[in-house]
Parts: sequence; structure tokens; C-alpha cells
Amino acid sequence: MSRQPLIVRYRAADRINHWLVVLCFLLVALSGLGFFFPALFWLTGVLGTGPTARILHPFIGVLMVLGFARLFVRLWRDNRFDADDRRWLGDLSGVLRGHEAGDTGRYNAGQKGLFWLMGLCLVLLLCSGVVIWRPYFAPVFPIPLIRVALLLHSATAILLIVGIIVHIYAAFWVKGSLRAMVEGVVTPAWAKKHHPRWYREEAGAHVDHKQP
Ligand code: HEM
Repeated sequence: MSRQPLIVRYRAADRINHWLVVLCFLLVALSGLGFFFPALFWLTGVLGTGPTARILHPFIGVLMVLGFARLFVRLWRDNRFDADDRRWLGDLSGVLRGHEAGDTGRYNAGQKGLFWLMGLCLVLLLCSGVVIWRPYFAPVFPIPLIRVALLLHSATAILLIVGIIVHIYAAFWVKGSLRAMVEGVVTPAWAKKHHPRWYREEAGAHVDHKQP
């Protein structure tokens, strides 16, 4: 077993924040699919019954947006694209074979792209969700706008679900990532391999290590 000190990647508050967003996402995504596809109506059972799911879905959606907003404030700086991202994106086939290109910082270009996609989707889901939210807000909007908002809400939800499936795949595929979000720590080998610039910044900036 390695005796090398582990590096802190996520503090407890951020991990709890992330998993609360995940819980909200699962509840709204499953109940939403239940509303959308008649064959999947049984999925509304995750929020009790069809009617209770219909009532709770928008409130849990708002909770998810608020939770993500906190994550966004914490992480947006590390998700800004830079010159090294071009090298990472230019060698996607190498990345898929496990050889990471470029001097990647805390997040690679794929993670950054997904981060901004999640943010955009959540803004669109919130705006369109308010327009279609009966009985509170929908009555003040014209019916054609409600129809457009319904279409936008459904299409954006599908896009976000596909994005999250990629996010989950990457979390399991890159061994050691899940540990970062569960225990909060990564090994120096993981950091050097996947995020070399972040590793150097962490090693140089402060000693915030835990013994395994
Ligand atoms: C079961 C579902 C999920 C799993 C297993 C999962 C797993 C993970 C893991 C392992 C990381 C750490 C990656 C790293 O630091 O390199 C992470 C980061 C993150 N996750 Fe998730 N996640 C899930 C769902 C979600 C959802 C639904 C959202 C938001 C809608 C989300 C938003 C984020 C964000 C914003 C980060 C930070 C990455 C960045 O800033 O680029 N995750 N997730």
C-alpha cells in the first residue's frame, strides 16, 4: 500500500453540495422522464405518485439549481478554458487511449465543457420551468410561449441527461476520480497523471495533505 500523502481535492462542504445536487438531479430526471414518456410513467413513483411528483418536481428542480449555483461559484475559475485545453482537445484519441495530453490544470477540457454545458442547461431549465409552472407562474404567460418553453424544457433536459451520463462514465472510467468526490482525496500519482499543472500548484502552494 502506498505511503505517499494524499492530496485534498474536495472539502466536505463541496462533496455534500455535489451529492445533494446529484440526489435532486436523479429525482427530477426520473420523474421528468415519467411525465414525458407514457411508457415510463411508473418512474414518477420516485416522488410518491403521479400527482405528488407533479407538485414536487419543480421545487426539487429549483433546489438543484441553487445547489449547482453554489458549486458554480466555487469552481468556475478552474473551468476557464486556456491554451493547454487546445492540446488536450487536439489529441482526443490519445486521451481515450489513456494518454493525457497538455499541461492540464485542475480540470481538463472535457470536464470544463461539461461544466459549462451543465450551467447553461440549468439556466434554460429554470427559465423555461418557471414559464410552464402551473398554477403559480404559467397563467401570466401567453399560451404560445408556454408551448415553446415546454419544448425547450424537454430538449434541454434530454441534453443534460446525456451530459450527465458522460460525466458519470468519466467518473468511473478515470480510476481514482470517484474517491475525490467520496473521500475528498486523490493520490499524487493520480494528480500527476491527469492534472499535472494542478499537482504542481498544490505541491508548491500549500501543504494540505492527509496520511492514508
Ligand atoms: C451519479 C451521478 C454523478 C457522479 C457519480 C458524479 C461524480 C463526480 C466526480 C467523481 C467528480 C470529480 C471529478 C474530478 O474532480 O476530477 C465530479 C465533479 C463534478 N460534478 Fe459530478 N457526478 C454525478 C452527477 C453530477 C450532477 C447531476 C451534477 C450537476 C448537475 C454534477 C456536477 C459536478 C461538477 C460541477 C463537478 C466539478 C467538475 C468541474 O467543475 O468541472 N455531477 N462528479
